[in-house]
Amino acid sequence: MANEVNHGRRRFLAGSTALIGGVGVVVTAIPFIESWLPSARAKSAAAPVTVDISKIEQGQMVRYGWRGLPVFIVNRTQEQLAGLPAQDSRLKDPKSENTDQQPKYCQNEYRSIKPEWLVVIGICTHLGCVPDYKGEVKPEPFDPNWKGGFYCPCHKSRYDMSARVYDGVPAPANLVVPPYHFVDDTHVQIGVDPNGASA
Ligand code: FES
Repeated sequence: MANEVNHGRRRFLAGSTALIGGVGVVVTAIPFIESWLPSARAKSAAAPVTVDISKIEQGQMVRYGWRGLPVFIVNRTQEQLAGLPAQDSRLKDPKSENTDQQPKYCQNEYRSIKPEWLVVIGICTHLGCVPDYKGEVKPEPFDPNWKGGFYCPCHKSRYDMSARVYDGVPAPANLVVPPYHFVDDTHVQIGVDPNGASA
């Protein structure tokens, strides 16, 4: 019994010594850690984000975070896609000619790599509110011919299902499409172009 106690005590002493030694290491290491922590944090905040899109149902929008920004991923239905061309005459930039708003590989009617998948940053280009997803193709109080899209509750800007902004609203530009690519059929990586270039 005494042996056990002693063993325990020796273990405790040994542990205490190790801990004290450890404290010494921690104390001397702090200036170094402080010098690299911010850049590690910054790196992690800027890192690409890979998301599983396999559970996103048709017509559903799911929100992810990337660099502190909300990124909307929408699995667009055929009905939503079919309504897009008819919106062109009502939009500020139907052909996505403002090249700041999307990468070149998304400068098309769908503003995407695959027609069914929309990936956009959910920040209104007016004053930065987060628009609501209004995906249903049905008359809305703000538009009797609504074909689905996004509605900003702050000052009533509207965007279609390609996140292209309508005429006659305060937002000046289409929602931003971030760099992204498909890792495989069910995973999207946000922050990296299809050619592997990081944003
Ligand atoms: S912030 Fe969206 S309309 Fe003003």
